Amino acid sequence: MTPDPANPLIPASNNRPGDDPIFTLHGMATRRAAAGEDILNATLGALVEDDGSLAVMPSVHEALRNTSLDRASAYAPISGPPEFLAAVERDVFHGHGLQSKCIAVATPGGSGAIYNAVTNFLEPGQKALTSSYYWAPYDILTGLSDRGICTFNMFGADGNLDLVSFEESLHALIAEQGRALVILNSPCHNPTGYSFNEDEWRAVCDIMAKAADEGPVTLLIDFAYAKYAPEGDADWRDHVARILPKVPTIVAWSASKAFAQYGARVGALIALHEDDTIRDRIANAMGFTCRGTWSNCNHHGMIAIGEVLRDDKLHAAWDKDRARLVELLDARVVEFNRLAAKHNLHYPRYEGGFFVAVFSDNPQVTIKHMQDAGVFIVPLQGAVRVGLCATPKSKIPRLVEALAAGIEAAKQIPAS
Ligand SMILES: Cc1ncc(COP(=O)(O)O)c(C=O)c1O
Repeated sequence: MTPDPANPLIPASNNRPGDDPIFTLHGMATRRAAAGEDILNATLGALVEDDGSLAVMPSVHEALRNTSLDRASAYAPISGPPEFLAAVERDVFHGHGLQSKCIAVATPGGSGAIYNAVTNFLEPGQKALTSSYYWAPYDILTGLSDRGICTFNMFGADGNLDLVSFEESLHALIAEQGRALVILNSPCHNPTGYSFNEDEWRAVCDIMAKAADEGPVTLLIDFAYAKYAPEGDADWRDHVARILPKVPTIVAWSASKAFAQYGARVGALIALHEDDTIRDRIANAMGFTCRGTWSNCNHHGMIAIGEVLRDDKLHAAWDKDRARLVELLDARVVEFNRLAAKHNLHYPRYEGGFFVAVFSDNPQVTIKHMQDAGVFIVPLQGAVRVGLCATPKSKIPRLVEALAAGIEAAKQIPAS
């Protein structure tokens, strides 16, 4: 095609959407609220207090305030400050033997970690495998470097993880492209709220180990919501340790939710491998990607978050701050489950986390019906995403009533 002399954009960049669909819905809700309407905006993924203000952690603010500006003004090492990375590794492994087999690099949040992983574990043109419900930015985080996403059916007829579909899709993908990168977001999956149980982690790992006989298979755990896991949450670490000789595993770690510090853009990509030499190569490859994209990350944020993780007093204060926020969210989850049961809403197991997805015959009809009642949520394929993180507890009855009415309305006009 002959380039248009007036338009310097390459064809791939020519028709990019100007706004994220969730931020567009959030904008609609905000405009109506500013015009004086009583709006319930459950679109965004940030935890708010029951008075609607952003929930923050005083311990983290203290660490940010106490950070030497002179130190923070300097460039951070490209792969991240070693003491920050060591603290993150301890946070993920809690002394588990896996810790001796990992390396890490700093990234701008979990988003940067996922981008970094995709560029190093997939060839251009290849796809990562994830569940049919997934965090929409995976499309951009893979597509930007000419990779992509393909999916397995997330839920079977029994409402649990569809392991049959996972296994079939994984084998098909390896047959097609010779390797696989599997992205799994648990606990507190966005957008469904689902957390894998022990049996599901065991089965997922067994399936991956078997598939590794057919080609290189890497597991990427998106750990963004780890700190909001339901009590007694299943532990993936022993399962990963068991398959590590066959399935290298990487973890996308994020400070955004764990420290209620979304704007600091602090994260890390942690890679586990049995072999020291390959581990070094992975560290170099991931550091190279850091250099070629964001160079180095927010030094101020990494120093402060590192201090919270390393300093006993700050760590104890952070534990307390976090416990309060988990309790705030859990109370909403309990209330939602109680009211949703009364209205016979159909949704996956939901024991904790920022979101829940409720099935709908026509999500567009459901969200429109709810918007007419002043309630904003996000449409998905065959479901709608409700942000309990952004819904004060006192507003959950209104939310569930509007939801039930919207789902009922969708039954009259099922999506074709
Ligand atoms: C599933 C999932 N993964 C990763 C992230 C990354 O967040 P951040 O880049 O702020 O760490 C988010 C944020 O909303 C998310 O929902």
